[in-house]
Amino acid sequence: MSKYPAKTHARNTLSYYRSLAAAAAAAANATGTSSSSEKPLFALTAPSLTLYPHCDQSQPFRQDRYFNYLTGAHDLPAAAVLYNSAADRLTLYLPPIDADDVMWSGLPLSPTQAQEKYDMDVVKYHADLAADVASTNVLTIDDRNKSVLESLLSSSNVTISPTFKEALEEARLRKDEFELALMRKASAISDVSHRAVMSALPIETNEGHIHAEFVYHSMRQGSKFQSYDPICCSGTDCGTLHYVRNDQEMADKQLVLIDAGAEWQCYASDVTRVFPITGEWTPEALAIYKAVLDMQTQSMEGVKPGVKWDDLHLLSHRILIKHFLELGIFKNTKSPEEILEARTSVGFLPHGLGHLLGMDTHDVAGHPNYEDPDPMFRYLRLRRPLEPGFVVTVEPGIYFNKFLLEPYLKDPKHLEIINTEVLEKYWAVGGVRLEDDVLVTETGFENFTKVTTDPEEVARIVKEGIAKGRSHFHVLA
Ligand code: GLY
Ligand code: MN
Ligand code: MN
Repeated sequence: MSKYPAKTHARNTLSYYRSLAAAAAAAANATGTSSSSEKPLFALTAPSLTLYPHCDQSQPFRQDRYFNYLTGAHDLPAAAVLYNSAADRLTLYLPPIDADDVMWSGLPLSPTQAQEKYDMDVVKYHADLAADVASTNVLTIDDRNKSVLESLLSSSNVTISPTFKEALEEARLRKDEFELALMRKASAISDVSHRAVMSALPIETNEGHIHAEFVYHSMRQGSKFQSYDPICCSGTDCGTLHYVRNDQEMADKQLVLIDAGAEWQCYASDVTRVFPITGEWTPEALAIYKAVLDMQTQSMEGVKPGVKWDDLHLLSHRILIKHFLELGIFKNTKSPEEILEARTSVGFLPHGLGHLLGMDTHDVAGHPNYEDPDPMFRYLRLRRPLEPGFVVTVEPGIYFNKFLLEPYLKDPKHLEIINTEVLEKYWAVGGVRLEDDVLVTETGFENFTKVTTDPEEVARIVKEGIAKGRSHFHVLA
């Protein structure tokens, strides 16, 4: 299959739409014709290129993910798509040709070229949309789409349908082989880029160099965009989950943490690696690294259909507690289950075990509950049992973040558990997170991320890079 399967995506969306509508009708005990027998028109639009405020430069174009799902047109601004479910016909509408745009940026794709490139039944221009819709009501997903469509149609026959949006999300949740190939490619690019960062210490003395090295290697491999802004931290800043500064000197610190993922045709990867700046682990850093690796290995081994993500998240906390008891960071005056119940480990692992991954780094349909009164689950972005075709990140971490831990260190309930004297030795470790991208298969899982997590191998790569010196420029792709 050479084209992004937009038509299959439209049909899948219709099928979810019908079952969601039927379920809603059944729940409301509706009589008469249920909306599950409707033959809706679905319509979406791509955002237009946007200038920066008070500036004549365009912002980088990032395709709307829902539009991409029904078209595969990840690089096409301002187009519209219509799925006529009665006719099972998917039509792409290109914006009109603008002479100024052609002067500055060249000719846009013609309908014939677009027809060859995308999985469409028909490709036309914006001006043809109104006749194809006639007086039928069109369903879309939000205000932006509604207002663009109403202006293209010169009518107000457009309805925002939460059921259509949910149907798109249910369809996006279960990746098909074409999407999985894009995700494997994104992960493979990230593997090379992480390996390059790990081996380039002689040309990396500032966090900004780590950032540059990762992006350089991603772009060399054809990935124009990162899935998210790379998180490149060192020393105690490794304890900041989504660190944004990326500008500190690294000398005299213990660890580098880099959380960065290349994007491939709108599909994300999301990978974190940690390595010692000198190539030698301190005993404390190695102990924490091994604890996180144990958490990641065991949680990942639990990935298979039917498993509750909540349970794997709890498993990673149980393993953290076991290691903290062995290291003496937790006193053994309480049992591991009592410590789990006290939620003390949440201070050291405040985020969730991982999240859905797809076009969005934090992908849709995870059903999180950010209001959960239990802090153990509040930031868990996936709260439904695993199914084949889900792609998730498995990303446990342990953090020594003074700001986050301060309330714990003032609370007698947690002070009964935390040995503050032993904890002193670990502040300089900052934080460790290991993050891989994993597909749930029929029988278990497939790990897309191949760059090593083995602590000896990591140290060897770092040391070999240091030994090669500054003249060694890495081109591994
Ligand atoms: N890179 C963001 C995250 O891991 O969720
Ligand atoms: Mn992640
Ligand atoms: Mn990440």
